[in-house]
Amino acid sequence: MKILVATEKPFAAAAVEGIKKEAKAAGHEVVLLEKYTDVKQLLDAVADVDAMIVRSDKVTPQVLDAAKNLKIVVRAGAGYDSIDTAYAKEKNVVVENTPGQNSNAVAELVFGMLVSAVRNFYNGKAGVELKGKKLGILAFGNVGRNVARIAKGFGMDVCAYDEYCPKDAIESAGVHAVDSRDELFKCCDVVSLHIPATPETKQSINYNVVNLMKKGGILVNTARKEVINEPELLKLMADRDDIKFITDIKPDADEEFKKFEGRYFSTPKKMGAQTAEANINAGIAAAKQINAFFESGDTKFQVNK
Ligand code: 3PG
Repeated sequence: MKILVATEKPFAAAAVEGIKKEAKAAGHEVVLLEKYTDVKQLLDAVADVDAMIVRSDKVTPQVLDAAKNLKIVVRAGAGYDSIDTAYAKEKNVVVENTPGQNSNAVAELVFGMLVSAVRNFYNGKAGVELKGKKLGILAFGNVGRNVARIAKGFGMDVCAYDEYCPKDAIESAGVHAVDSRDELFKCCDVVSLHIPATPETKQSINYNVVNLMKKGGILVNTARKEVINEPELLKLMADRDDIKFITDIKPDADEEFKKFEGRYFSTPKKMGAQTAEANINAGIAAAKQINAFFESGDTKFQVNK
């Protein structure tokens, strides 16, 4: 079988080597399309492949139509909002993700950005410490759990809310489970978002929700830019000069947010999962899942059942 690794934002070289090794052991061939700049390059590359490994690369109906032999797409990572899963299902293409494989990398970046924010982005003025502050985790999946683990190391008081995770599962991880999203925003000094981008969550982080935060509240987004209602957050930051917003996903309104100097930070490119370890974990997991699919029809990680 022919496996295309299509990554606008390439994996670390060691991850690509690992993918090739796994595929070769199962008798598959790997072709690479890295750093492509035009969708035409992707459309040409998918023409004769049986499987694809992608990151946040957009797998649209156009791509799926061009990929005549495609049987499986594995998103090496967690969020699969960049893939038209319903259309893939119509075309009998299995879509999988690799949950948990890059979650520590994303969680570590939360604290990289957070320490910088509470120290006023190192502008020389006295900042504050994280120890003793209350951290709210919105959605207690793989990233949220890693964030909780690291936060405890900082001596933070950790709370979480997850609509889909029972309270006792949160409590059994040693984290205080609150009853609602609003309560999480109300009681925490920092709220870290780990919700996927779905029709329900898109634009859901709006003026009223963030305005529930205490004085000096910090909103951290390493999830997806679509979950933020940008015009409303801009308005809130104009109305409240104590709120900080730090994000690993550059908002569409980046230039406008930049006006809030000292209260806003965005990475230049989504960097959360951009570590050698995360690339190796997610890339090799993707290759193994493809091998299992072709060997035995295994679809354990299918997200478009
Ligand atoms: C994910 O959903 O796994 C993360 O957001 C990482 O995405 P990336 O592989 O595009 O960096």
